[in-house]
Amino acid sequence: MKAKNLKVNGLTEPIGYSFDHLTFSWETSGEDLDAQSKMTVTVALDPAFKQVVAQADCASGNLLTLAPDFLTNKTRYFWRVQGLTFQASSFFETGLMDEAWQAKWISYQDAPQDAVCFSKKFTADKAVKTARLYLMALGLYEASLNGQAVSLEYLTPGYHSYDLYQQYQTFDVTHLINSENELTVMVGNGWYKGRFLFDGGFENIYGDKQKLIAQLEMTYEDGSREVVLSDESWNCQTYFIKENSIYDGERQDLSTRPEPLQTIALADDRATLTERLDLPVKPVRVYNPTAFIDKNGDLILDFEQEITGWIAGRVETPKKQVKFTFGELLQDGRFYRDNLRTAKQEFIVDNIEQASFIRPHFTYFGFRYVKVEGLSEAEALRFKGYSLQSELEETFSFASSSAKLNQLLSNVKWSQRDNFLSIPTDCPQRDERLGWTGDIGVFANTASYNMETRAFFANYLRSMRAEQLAQKGAVPVFVPYPKIKPFEGINPFLLGGAVSVWGDAATILPITSYRHCHDQGQLKADYPLMKGWVDYILKKDQAHQNRHLFDFDMQLGDWLALDTGIKGSVMGATDSSLVATVYYWISAQNTADAAAILDYQTDNAFYQKLADEIKAAILTTYFKGDDLNLAPATLNSPTEQIRQQMAQGFAGQKIDTKVDTQTGLALLLHYRLYPSEAARQKLADRLEARLEEAGNSLTTGFAGTPALLHALSENGLDQAAFDLLFKEDAPSWLFEVSQGATTTWERWDSLLSDGRISGTDMNSMNHYAYGSVEDFIVEKLLGINLPDLTGDTWKIAPHFTSHLTWAQGKLMTANGPLEVKWVKTGSLVETTVILPPRTKAVFIKQDGSQCQLKSGSNQFSDFFPDKSDNAIQDYKETVNE
Ligand code: BGC
Repeated sequence: MKAKNLKVNGLTEPIGYSFDHLTFSWETSGEDLDAQSKMTVTVALDPAFKQVVAQADCASGNLLTLAPDFLTNKTRYFWRVQGLTFQASSFFETGLMDEAWQAKWISYQDAPQDAVCFSKKFTADKAVKTARLYLMALGLYEASLNGQAVSLEYLTPGYHSYDLYQQYQTFDVTHLINSENELTVMVGNGWYKGRFLFDGGFENIYGDKQKLIAQLEMTYEDGSREVVLSDESWNCQTYFIKENSIYDGERQDLSTRPEPLQTIALADDRATLTERLDLPVKPVRVYNPTAFIDKNGDLILDFEQEITGWIAGRVETPKKQVKFTFGELLQDGRFYRDNLRTAKQEFIVDNIEQASFIRPHFTYFGFRYVKVEGLSEAEALRFKGYSLQSELEETFSFASSSAKLNQLLSNVKWSQRDNFLSIPTDCPQRDERLGWTGDIGVFANTASYNMETRAFFANYLRSMRAEQLAQKGAVPVFVPYPKIKPFEGINPFLLGGAVSVWGDAATILPITSYRHCHDQGQLKADYPLMKGWVDYILKKDQAHQNRHLFDFDMQLGDWLALDTGIKGSVMGATDSSLVATVYYWISAQNTADAAAILDYQTDNAFYQKLADEIKAAILTTYFKGDDLNLAPATLNSPTEQIRQQMAQGFAGQKIDTKVDTQTGLALLLHYRLYPSEAARQKLADRLEARLEEAGNSLTTGFAGTPALLHALSENGLDQAAFDLLFKEDAPSWLFEVSQGATTTWERWDSLLSDGRISGTDMNSMNHYAYGSVEDFIVEKLLGINLPDLTGDTWKIAPHFTSHLTWAQGKLMTANGPLEVKWVKTGSLVETTVILPPRTKAVFIKQDGSQCQLKSGSNQFSDFFPDKSDNAIQDYKETVNE
């Protein structure tokens, strides 16, 4: 028996993170442990565990939450988990916590620069035992001590709601200290002051000059301490990095001779500095390109995969200028970038005077292709592509007999990697890259199979909560949410407010994270956000006669659905009050469930009653007896009127709003919002009919797509669900694959059948929302179902399909890998489930019968597609052989 992968709040050996709760988790492996075995977590001040400060037993789940009340600042804690036959240990370390900062924020007196370099020389006279650097700089920084990077992370401090709180980093720099030292921090524009934000972008969103606060604390071997603090005595100078911004890229001039700037101390608030939660952004994968000359005669590098990050390499001989332009696509054999809108995505280096290694510092690109100017093909091929992302552990792998399905799953994972950069973004390339809440809301479940998302979400949810508090309960459409002073013609998305589906990420992310990790400490931290969002809608609901229908205010509805018939439309045909009310119910139910888990009984009763009342309102509004009410009053609701106006403005056309669209039906079915079994059957029949009318194609948008295949499969329509999944002509998931996609597209028709782009005003090849289909593959095709929110038993119930002869998936669980593999020979299907120890699970056969699974390998035989005598005969013969 072994325990490994020890984590605190989902982080490995965290130093200086924010610990508002402490959840210890570990993975076990080995057979000699049953579900009942007790494990003990001990936290001590020393690695020999003599000075114990906390201890508790964990009966199940490989996870334990402790109250952090014993924590003191700047302290390393050692912790271990022990069972009967094993033990494993790790550590974590606190930051400054409530200790007041001694250092001051510093900046410079001179005119604003695009990048500056702060530095400070200091000596260390005695042998250093430990040294910690507490550091925060805005926009983005890279710090080094004596020429060595203090950490291998980039784009630090990441992106959070800078106007509301500032996350600082803690670095262990013990090994870098000499007797004579120089600490250098170069700081660029980043999200803080570079061009960024919706609708063309704005500069100086959070501030107009770079600033920094640093406190370096050394403890000598003799126990004495010394600190180096940022103040007016620091050096500040201009830098070789000129223009730089998230959208436009970076321009460097290597002939720059630094000019001194006048350092000033700022009176800026230090009380809003907090320990980091943001995960380090690292270059996780490296790619070698191939090169070709496109039809314009341009030299193009092809990385064969769309990645987020940058390129880097050596230029050996002097060059006046080298220029790289980044794009996602080729069109007509030519490099293409019109769909990036105003984002320049360029990396330019001027005046390379001697052999130099070049890379960007304060930007990133979403790209597969790079146009190269100023280098020969051989010189360009010295460059490699680095895929940058927040450091998350990957937890799921899949393979099947369909190469296209396998590629789809690779694309989904890549869109996640490419958009999990500090915050979950909509896309990594055009002039947007915002933390759109709706996108991650619909993708959260899939994301949490692919990776251990807990710590990444925790960070994003902290900004979401801060924004919610700043906006009186509203959860904005993207987080962080910069505040722009209103002006004539400002885009309404920049004026605050909240919409359904997007705001519901406030309850969906916490509950999804809990379902995957069972981390009560994290759920408790996120609970005020959940409650705050439901209370916000409820308050509005009460101001609209308390009807429990979310049929007022502007809504985005079933974003990007195809069912309006209006070319290029962003709005779907589904009644957006229906969509919004279903999501209101989802959020009320999620909050009731969270309250039950946390044993907040009064809240549980309150939100459960609310959820039940919303459901009752849905049933009375949208059903007449067992039939769907095709003409509910909401078709003419205030929400709908606003939407019709928007449609007029966009296309000069009216939307034929309906409730019985694929999305409307899928939502009602998947969330079981119907009055009776007879009504359920009628909804399922209608959904089948709607599919047929659409030529067996999907028409759903962001709101309906995550529910569609589940709704079909849960209602006896597996064949229809799998036909949609395996469909190869447009619109479909595999159409994208057939078009050579290496990530998932924003729109079903991002590219048309002839390979041409369908439009350039809002069209990315790297949006993860439609990748939400992966949870259908995990939960239905492989049949891996997580325990219920309050249960501990996994349910393994694979759904076979004639589209495949085999499929297999492996999910990392707290107890080790759980694997399901099924192989079809004729109509006989053999399923193998490998269950990790200490895990309870049942297997559900095709006839509905259940059996308990044991740790290790479990084998089952079943029939598909029919249970004909022949198949049974075949089976018997196989068994007899
Ligand atoms: C983004 C989306 C987002 C949507 C909402 C788009 O521009 O890319 O994915 O959810 O706007 O309006």
